Amino acid sequence: MITHDQILPSFYQLQRLGLVEEITVCARHEQTLQALADSQQLKQAFPEHTFRSSVGDYRDTLARTSAHNLAVIALPDHLHFDTVTAALAADLHALVVKPLVMTLAEAETIEREALLKGLFVGVEYHKRFDDRSLMARRKYRAGEFGEFRLGSACLMEKWYYRHSNFQNWCTTENSDAFAYIGCHYVDLVHFITGLLPVSVSVYGVKDEYPNGNDGFLWTDARVIWSNGACLNVQNSLSFPDDAPGTNTQGLTLYCASRTNGALIRHSDQFRGVEHAYTARPEAPGGTIYSEPSPDYFQYVDLGGGGLTPVGYGYRSIEYLLRCCLRVESASDRQQVIRDIDREGIAATPANSRYNEQVIEAARQSILSGGTTVSIGRRTGPVRK
Ligand SMILES: NC(=O)c1ccc[n+]([C@@H]2O[C@H](COP(=O)([O-])OP(=O)(O)OC[C@H]3O[C@@H](n4cnc5c(N)ncnc54)[C@H](O)[C@@H]3O)[C@@H](O)[C@H]2O)c1
Repeated sequence: MITHDQILPSFYQLQRLGLVEEITVCARHEQTLQALADSQQLKQAFPEHTFRSSVGDYRDTLARTSAHNLAVIALPDHLHFDTVTAALAADLHALVVKPLVMTLAEAETIEREALLKGLFVGVEYHKRFDDRSLMARRKYRAGEFGEFRLGSACLMEKWYYRHSNFQNWCTTENSDAFAYIGCHYVDLVHFITGLLPVSVSVYGVKDEYPNGNDGFLWTDARVIWSNGACLNVQNSLSFPDDAPGTNTQGLTLYCASRTNGALIRHSDQFRGVEHAYTARPEAPGGTIYSEPSPDYFQYVDLGGGGLTPVGYGYRSIEYLLRCCLRVESASDRQQVIRDIDREGIAATPANSRYNEQVIEAARQSILSGGTTVSIGRRTGPVRK
């Protein structure tokens, strides 16, 4: 899904800009690659572009790739560790869809290995590149909101997701609605505020997928932060297929100075655009009345043939690729990796390992009925 909807078209655009040369896509089955190659949307946007196909085990593909190229990993969450490790062993930089891995120890192993070899590993948390996140970050860090105290976030994907490939991997033993999509908002709270999570509890409600597998398809998480603030995150695969928009999502952070309250509220689903079509679009989840997001990933006609991808989905991929090029062209690659870690705009194993801590604790919590799992130390309020 994400390869078709965001990653491959972004790399085609980067190819158009001359930043990327050849693209190879690897999958276990020929039909996965055929479906990508046959996509009408991709053909319409990039009539001149194709990828090389590599069917079989990704380890063989990685081993055949010349050193210091980039491996892009868009596999189910629990397979990321083995794949990133294999990419680093083949001396490749890596761009990994979120979440990087499922445990802190795995994140630390990747961080060490990558730094040792001078290879860049970037984690694709594209909501960071939504301008509203960058605006909030800048103003929060300038002190304009005081300090975060209490907040809530939600991201509910549409019901039809239950019928997709998710039912084969997003099952109770591997992942859950919070690990899959809740991590976006945990990451954003740190990205905006700089606070760190210190404890997590997640209550999950199990549902049966159409193929009979069980998944925690409804989750309610409580994340406590280093200053004592509390974020509640609700996630599910439940948003009605006939509802407008591809999902429902948003973030509210109530903040305060000593003398006044402050607020950050993002409606991440309704972004001010309303469409009503003459017929129901054929795409999964298509509705006659729609509230499309102009901000995540859209194709626009800017002339010159084909269509141009725009939005934070594209900008995120471009940013991570540019980080990779920055590392690759440096005489001291480790220094540039540390600079990128410190800047904190790209999520890296070193600067976003709190995400792995939260996911690891969340998995422990959800599997034990929602107990509180501690992951850090409270440091108290940071702003007066
Ligand atoms: N908002 C986001 O940032 C976002 C959105 C969607 C997905 N993702 C992430 O992208 C990743 C993939 O999600 P998706 O929605 O594209 O899922 P998907 O199920 O559509 O795609 C996963 C692909 O991996 C393949 N695969 C499964 N097991 C494999 C194995 N053992 N070896 C090799 N290939 C295997 C499947 O055949 C499929 O082609 C996940 O980590 C997910 O969390 C992120």
